Amino acid sequence: MKIAVVGTGYVGLVTGTCLSEIGHTVMCIDIDQNKVNKMREGISPIYEPGLDELMIKNIEEKRLFFTTNHSEGFENVDVIYIAVGTPEREDGSANLSFVEQVAKDIASHIEKDVIVVTKSTVPVGTNDWIKSVIQNNLVNNVKVDIVSNPEFLREGAAIYDSFNGDRIVVGAENVTAANTIGELNKPFGIPVFKTDIRSAEMIKYAANAFLATKISFINEISNICEKVGANVEDVANGMGQDNRIGSQFLNAGIGYGGSCFPKDTKALVQIAGNVDYEFELLKGVIHVNQKQQEILLNKLDDRFDSLEGKKIAVLGLAFKPNTDDMREAASIVITKYLIEKGANVVAYDPVAMENAKKILDLNVNYASNTIEALKDADVALILTEWNEFKDLEIGSFEKNMKLPVIFDGRNCYDPKIVENFHVEYHSMGRPSIKNIHLL
Ligand code: UGA
Repeated sequence: MKIAVVGTGYVGLVTGTCLSEIGHTVMCIDIDQNKVNKMREGISPIYEPGLDELMIKNIEEKRLFFTTNHSEGFENVDVIYIAVGTPEREDGSANLSFVEQVAKDIASHIEKDVIVVTKSTVPVGTNDWIKSVIQNNLVNNVKVDIVSNPEFLREGAAIYDSFNGDRIVVGAENVTAANTIGELNKPFGIPVFKTDIRSAEMIKYAANAFLATKISFINEISNICEKVGANVEDVANGMGQDNRIGSQFLNAGIGYGGSCFPKDTKALVQIAGNVDYEFELLKGVIHVNQKQQEILLNKLDDRFDSLEGKKIAVLGLAFKPNTDDMREAASIVITKYLIEKGANVVAYDPVAMENAKKILDLNVNYASNTIEALKDADVALILTEWNEFKDLEIGSFEKNMKLPVIFDGRNCYDPKIVENFHVEYHSMGRPSIKNIHLL
């Protein structure tokens, strides 16, 4: 099939590349000429393991193309994917101006019947609105079917997820259109769940909100564990073995970040509010998440009389491992606080430092590797659980730091191993270890 994908952000580029990999001819459209030039050479604008290789392969095999030109991009296509951003407005609602522009572009360019598939996360009812925008602006006498096809990819694992997802959700009012999109996705070998458009739109928000709820839930359990002397990891493990609960997304830490959970949870509260429903539980989830970063900082404040002049090594800046994405990363709030308290912050992240430099406080210093960050530090804060940090010998903290006090916001180390070293180790929801006095 001939497919156009509008928007080459994380969702659009991964979708377009993976659709070309399963044999379709894909034209990716973006307004940014520089970006398009780079992508034509197989250079991805985002860090996503395996993406560049897959782009290069499909560009060479002449299935994957990039353009800024809508006439060229929409020529003869059977299916158009909308994958532009829906950023958060100040009130938490989704800004649909990019989606509206794409709908108008589609209406003015298409010359044959098409199926328009919405990948972008959009509030319930948006696909009906997209259809009306297209219908009202159509230049040619063609038929347009709309399909809602939300994506469930995780950043950093997007290529893997594309080929190993749990389900593909297809929401449509026209059965033939739903079947066509089901067939188009068949080579992925992932079960297709067909439903109506509004339910498909809701599935996306409900899924992300539920995962965020799991995280905030385990984070509150973790906070209680600290006070009652229990170990949250064992608690999560024991809970997760119940199939009705499931073991995933029960890692306690400093809360969820990224471009999706914070935005989508707020948008769902807004969607509910628009129909006079107060989503109390989800409001609580959002509040708990915001508080979770403070909990780590409170522990730090309790431990030291003052942070003034202290060298603090911050390990990990990205909102999670395997991405250079800094959106809503805990490191933003945490480094800001440390700088305000007069600390000398030396940060290191394996891939997110270039992006971090654009948004973190100018007083944050950057090290070129973990050991350099730890050198002579008074405290180490672990904010992202990169394997590079998890694989670190605990002895490296002891050997390089002035005072080996570790605050691990992501529970990277097994306390039983840490116990064998001369360090002070505070993690989330687990008893602290204080072996520093043995020095
Ligand atoms: C999330 C969903 O997992 C995807 O299914 C969805 O497609 C995507 O949002 C989206 O809407 O586009 P993503 O934001 O890439 O994916 O990252 P996750 O792996 O879900 O992690 C989100 C945040 O939750 C991270 O900050 C992570 O550190 C945190 N987290 C995750 C926890 O604190 N504990 C956990 O147990 C799991």
